[in-house]
Amino acid sequence: MMINGITHTLHLAPMAELTTPALREVVKKFTGNVVLYSEMLASGAINAKAPHNEPLIKRYDFDTPFCYQLVGNNPAIMANAASVLQDYGCDGININMACSAPHILKTGGGANLLCNFNLAKAVIAACRKNVRGLLTVKMRAGFHDIDLLFLRQFVSMLQDEGVDAVIIHPRAAKWGFTRKAHWDVIEAIVTAVKIPVIGNGDITNAELAMQRLQQTHCDGIMIGRAAVQKPWIFARCQALLQQQSLSLSLDIEEIWIEVLENIQSMLPARLHKSRAHRFCAYYHKNVTFGHTLFSSIRQCSDINDMIVLIKDYFKRNEVERIKIV
Ligand SMILES: Cc1cc2nc3c(=O)[nH]c(=O)nc-3n(C[C@H](O)[C@H](O)[C@H](O)COP(=O)(O)O)c2cc1C
Repeated sequence: MMINGITHTLHLAPMAELTTPALREVVKKFTGNVVLYSEMLASGAINAKAPHNEPLIKRYDFDTPFCYQLVGNNPAIMANAASVLQDYGCDGININMACSAPHILKTGGGANLLCNFNLAKAVIAACRKNVRGLLTVKMRAGFHDIDLLFLRQFVSMLQDEGVDAVIIHPRAAKWGFTRKAHWDVIEAIVTAVKIPVIGNGDITNAELAMQRLQQTHCDGIMIGRAAVQKPWIFARCQALLQQQSLSLSLDIEEIWIEVLENIQSMLPARLHKSRAHRFCAYYHKNVTFGHTLFSSIRQCSDINDMIVLIKDYFKRNEVERIKIV
């Protein structure tokens, strides 16, 4: 995907309560070559200028390239919200047709738009009129199941309506996270449309990311959960893209505490506990007894108490602090 004349292959997946500036900053420290996304933002709340959204909208110097992700299903409301977000400064607006969480489906947004072709088309047409930068769509490969014929028609419609790139998580919405991501679907869509196709789903390491790129000829790779556990994953991907080898000496404790301290300094106190727990739910997998440590962390409301537990863990398990990848 081209942004300001530069091709961007790597994308950090938008994830509610996870892709906070706290995580984005650390991802960017490892490599600049990754497109960042905000947490999902509800179009109605954006238009209402709801104060609770301010910390989720705030953009930092490291947030570049940066896209806001918008969810909703009313064309006029979505188009207006896209304008509002654009005025905050960003490289693009991403429309969420991927979320399968029941509270989002109930509102008619997220993956529900896959069930209403004409409404999805109207949402894109309205947003396209207001978005000067990139307009992209993140979508599941189907709602109840994957239907390749439907998917081709749907992505062709997005292309015809002026969408600049499509990100496909090749699972049906109703599958949630069960079954595996069907990457053969990505390959089929790449050959069917002209716009860039970015593949997403179940990438766990840089080598697999390269394998998926080569197999499917897709234009980019988006990584979600593995990037929370390994915020350095894009640096390794970038090195492989440049046919270089990269060995990183990581201080697992330092990175952990940095994200938690970022949460404290970048987000309001009401979000500290939820965002810290969310991050630790993935990052704890980097250490042998992480499960037990995470159980203790979940008892804490205050990030300072979580940090005490983490420091104590590494004092007792010093050999786990430095990891070479
Ligand atoms: C906790 C969590 C929150 C998520 N929130 C969003 C979201 O707000 N918007 C979205 O498009 N996808 C969301 N996703 C889906 C991810 O962006 C991504 O498509 C999915 O995790 C598959 O990629 P992965 O296997 O690399 O994690 C979320 C996923 C998780 C695990």
